[in-house]
This record gives sequence, structure tokens and C-alpha cells, in this order.
Amino acid sequence: MIFQKAKYLKGEVTIPGDKSISHRAVMFGSLAEGTTEVTNFLQGADCLSTIDCFRKMGIEIENTPDHILIHGKGLHGLQAPSCILDAGNSGTTTRLISGILAAQNFETTLTGDASIQKRPMRRIIEPLSMMGANITSVNGNDCAPLRIVGAPLHGIHYHSKVASAQVKSSILLAGLYADGETRVTEPTVSRNHSEIMLKYFGADIRTENKTAIIQPEPVLKGQKVNVPGDISSAAYFIAAGLLVPGAEVYIHNVGINKTRNGIIKVAQAMGGDITFLNENNAGEPTADLLVKHSALHGITIEGDIIPTLIDELPIINIMAACAEGTTIIKDAAELKVKESNRIDVMVEHLSAMGCDITGTDDGMIINGGKPLHGTVVDSHMDHRIAMSFAIASLVAAGETTIKGSDVVTISYPNFYEDLAKLTR
Ligand code: S3P
Repeated sequence: MIFQKAKYLKGEVTIPGDKSISHRAVMFGSLAEGTTEVTNFLQGADCLSTIDCFRKMGIEIENTPDHILIHGKGLHGLQAPSCILDAGNSGTTTRLISGILAAQNFETTLTGDASIQKRPMRRIIEPLSMMGANITSVNGNDCAPLRIVGAPLHGIHYHSKVASAQVKSSILLAGLYADGETRVTEPTVSRNHSEIMLKYFGADIRTENKTAIIQPEPVLKGQKVNVPGDISSAAYFIAAGLLVPGAEVYIHNVGINKTRNGIIKVAQAMGGDITFLNENNAGEPTADLLVKHSALHGITIEGDIIPTLIDELPIINIMAACAEGTTIIKDAAELKVKESNRIDVMVEHLSAMGCDITGTDDGMIINGGKPLHGTVVDSHMDHRIAMSFAIASLVAAGETTIKGSDVVTISYPNFYEDLAKLTR
């Protein structure tokens, strides 16, 4: 797809549902008794992979334009699938489902696309095995496909080396089936959607500082879940609103959970003009955001804020490229094991656009303020890379071509249509 520099960016956008929360609604709804109704569910390929996996395990899931209805069968109601489970491109599906599969009374093989088959799974194989799980990497490379033979599980206290909600959630889900309490302590608290939603469904789960603690064998009950707009998707419009001269964007119904809102804190610290409106703090907090064009300056981004903006670092790179001065990003080595190696890919393509950017072991250093120009960008089949460079193209001279641009179907199927409505 080919993009031109924008002369204009104004209007309103409603962001599709949060990807992390949509996955969890399907999973927990499947393990609950009775029907779970999910509105504003993200119809992205990743979340559809989760639906597909649970359907293959005997859960009836109705997907209509208005809502999703999940007819849960309780904690012990899953059936052995008659084929391999396919998580597609979704790390969340792969890692969270593994925690559930580890405790079933059947055997499964779980795989995914070429990217998933390269992503690290030792981080869940290790703690789940400590709980008694029988889980192996079929090719012996600590990646999917995974063969999981259900087994009785024990409660453990796991000290995770990485701040990862996927790892934490996988262990907590296994903990639903353990013979005692399960604790997960993280180096820095990662997104807490599992903790919030499991409690809402009736689980006995609490947090103490950086530790999540769950008791086994709750009776989960089907619930109504209204998924907030995904802040990770809103991030592209936040950046567009800040970067395009004269821009003003009103973004409706964005999830602003404090374990996810690092993008807003960083944008404001860089000098971004963002106003919160219609704040709603029931359950997962939401707000509308009004974003106006702003002169940005570089900052240092490191430490505890990193997990709260990990998926937004590619678009933060674009903001930093346009900001005056230096932006330093540290403590973000996790970028190397996302859908693509997001340090290498951002350095490669932002350099090609004229930006002064250097990759480091755990982040990047960007000397911003140099004019960007169009180039050919390869998405590396990474949705967040494609969307980040679509926004960069709005402020780059000439034409930007994005190869593999349709990968946005993973998390934001109508992204280009929504962007086109705002720009000229
Ligand atoms: C997610 C957690 C994050 C994030 C991913 C979604 C989740 O991954 O990058 O897009 O839904 O739990 P990690 O937990 O591996 O950091």
C-alpha cells in the first residue's frame, strides 16, 4: 500500500475493542458456567484464533455483529480437540491457553504461524513444568508447536524474570486447577487484565505489590463484558494527532488502565497536548482523548514504565524521530521477541527514512528532528510495524510504500479506512 504526506488531519475516531481483554473474555467465558456476552469484541485475527481454539474444544461461541455469546461449560468442561490447535499469529492465545491445557484430562498439540514458531516458549514451559505440567516443544527448540499432556498441577510461587502478562496469566490459569495457592511475582507489574477479569468472573484472586495470588477450583460464572477501546490501537491516532501540523483528533472510549497507559504519560512528557474527557472508572477505566498537534521533545524512557507501553514502542519511535532532541529507550529487550524483532526493524526502516537512530541491546537512541522522507518499508508481517510506518508516512516527504500492509487485520482490521477518514 502507498501513502502520501498528509496536509490535514482532523476528526473523530472510535477505536476497536482491546485485544488483550477480548482474548481473556473468550477464555474465561469458556471456563465459566453459563453464558458470557461480550460487546465491542475485537474482530481481529488474533482474537478469532482464540475463538477457534475453544470451539475446537467443544465450546459453542456465537459471533454476531452485535456481540459474542460464549456458552461456557465450567472449569472442567473442555473436550479433547480432534485436531491440532492453531493460535495463528497470537502470542497471547499460545501462552495463555497453554496454562489451561496443562491441566486438562487430554492431550493437545498447539501451534501457530511462522512468527509464533520462532517466539520463546521456555518462559511458560519452565513455570508450568514446575507445577507438574507435561509440556514439550515438538521440535526441541523451546518454541511452538507445543505438545501438552494434561496432568495434575501443584500450586507454586513463581518469580518471573520477565515482566510479561502472558507468562503471568498462563501460570494463573494453570493455578485455577492446582492443588493449592499459586503466586506469580514479577520484576515490574505487567498488564493486569487477567487479574481484574478473573475476579469479575468469580475467581479468588488478589494482588500484593508485584505478586498475583490465585486460589484453585473457583466456580466461574458467565458475565457481561463490554470491551474498552484498545489503547495500543489508539496510540497510532495519538501520534498522528501530535505529529501532523494543525491536527486535532477526538478518540472515543479508550481503555486507560494504569498498567497500559504509558503511551499517554510519555506523549505528555514529550510535550504532547492530550486532554481526558468522559472518564469512566467502573471496571476497566476508559476515557475519550482529545489530541492536538504539539511540538515534541525527546525524553528518556526506562524502568517500570516499559511494560505499560511495550506494544507502543514502535509508534513512540516515530514520535521520537519527529521530536527535537534525543530520546533514549532502555530496559526494552522484550522488543526483540515480539511479532518481529522490533529493535532491528525500527532501526532499519526509520534509518531509511532519514532518522538518526541506533539500536542497543535493550532499546534504541534516537536523535530526533531530522526531516523524514518516504521509502519502501517491509512490515515483516508485524501489525504494529505496518501501523507505525503508516503514521510516519503522514509526516514524511513524498511517498511511503508499506509491503505486507494487510497484516493490520491482526489487531485493527479497519485501520487504513479509519485513518483515511481523518486525513487529506
Ligand atoms: C499481552 C501481553 C504483552 C503484549 C501482547 C499482549 C497480553 O506481551 O506485548 O501484545 O494480552 O497479555 P508480554 O506479556 O509477553 O509482554
